[in-house]
Amino acid sequence: MTAAAPAALTHEQIGVLARAVSRAPSVHNSQPWQLLVRGTEVDLLERRDVELRRHDPAGRDRLLSCGAALTNLELAVRALGRDCHVEYRDDDVVATVTIGRERAASARVYSLYQAIGRRRSHRHRFFHNRVPKDVHTAVVAAGETTGVHLVVPARLDKLAELLGFATRVLREDRGYQRELETWTAHTHGWDAVGDGVPEDALSPEALPVAGLVRAGTPVPDDAVLAARLAAENLLVLCTDGDARADHIAAGAALQRVWLTATAKALVGSVLTQPLHLTGFRARLVSELALPGVPQAIFRFGYPAVPAAPSPRLPLGELFPDGPTGGIR
Ligand SMILES: Cc1cc2nc3c(=O)[nH]c(=O)nc-3n(C[C@H](O)[C@H](O)[C@H](O)COP(=O)(O)O)c2cc1C
Repeated sequence: MTAAAPAALTHEQIGVLARAVSRAPSVHNSQPWQLLVRGTEVDLLERRDVELRRHDPAGRDRLLSCGAALTNLELAVRALGRDCHVEYRDDDVVATVTIGRERAASARVYSLYQAIGRRRSHRHRFFHNRVPKDVHTAVVAAGETTGVHLVVPARLDKLAELLGFATRVLREDRGYQRELETWTAHTHGWDAVGDGVPEDALSPEALPVAGLVRAGTPVPDDAVLAARLAAENLLVLCTDGDARADHIAAGAALQRVWLTATAKALVGSVLTQPLHLTGFRARLVSELALPGVPQAIFRFGYPAVPAAPSPRLPLGELFPDGPTGGIR
C-alpha cells in the first residue's frame, strides 16, 4: 500500500504564507515578490518590473529581498506543521518550496516564525550595544551557511572613512536622490499606498550608519562616525560569489540573522546603500580584510525607542493571477 500524498494547502494556510512573505524586509520597501501556489508546490517569483535604476541597477538588492521573503515562506510552512524542501531556481522563479508531510515545528522554528511580525527596521540609536556573548554568537550562527560568512568589522576607523565618503557622494547625486524621494514621499496622505519607506520609519538623527542617505543627511567627521559605529554591533554579510544564487542565499541568511536577533529582544537595521557605489565593495574587502563579497551590513543592539512600522501592499497583490488566483 502506498502512503497518501501530502495534502494541498487550504485557503487559510495560503493566507498564513502570504502574510509571512509580505512582512519580509525589502529594498526601499518595494516588496518585489509574488507567490504562485500549485497544489503542494509554492513558487516565490521575483517581480523584475520593480526597478530601482539608480540604487540597484543590477537587481542585487531585489534578489536579497526575495531571499529574505524565502526565509519567511519556509518558516511559515514549517510553523504550519509541514515539512518542506526548498529549491533555488534560475529564472523569474526565485525558488520552489515543495510542501511535504506533517511534521511538528521545532521550538526554534516557531520562535523565528513568531518574530516575523515583530521585526522591523530600527534606524535609531541603540539604548546600548552590550549584547551577551552567547546571544551574539547565536545571532551570527543563524546566518552562517555554505558560502555565506558574517564578519564583525575590526577596523571601524576605515569603515567610518568609507561610509563618510559614500554619504557625501550619495547626498550630492541628484538623480539618485530623485529616485529615493519617490520611495520616501508617497507613503503619507490621501494617496498613501502600501510600499515605500514612510518618514516615521526614518530616524531624524539618521547618520549614514543608521539609515538611508538623503539630500539632508548629516555627515560628521570620520572620528565621530567611528565612535558612533563603536556604539553598535555590526556584521558584514559576505558571500563566496556574486551571482544570483549568492544574492538569494545572502538575503535568506540576513533574514535568519534579523529574526534571531528579534526573537532575542534585539532590534536592528540593514545597510546596502553604500555597497552600490562603484568600487566601494572592493575597498571594503581590502580595508576590512573580508573573506568574500560584501552584500549587506547589519547593525543591531537593544532599543532605546520604538521604531515605526512600514506599510505593506494588499495581500491580493502577492498573487499574479489576482486575489483569488493564487491557488491552482
Ligand atoms: C536588500 C535590502 C537592502 C536594504 N537597504 C537599506 C539601506 O541601505 N538603508 C536602510 O535604512 N534600510 C535598508 N533596507 C531596509 C528596508 O528599507 C526595509 O526593510 C523596508 O523599508 C521595510 O521596512 P521594515 O524592515 O521595517 O519591515 C534594506 C532592506 C533590504 C532587504
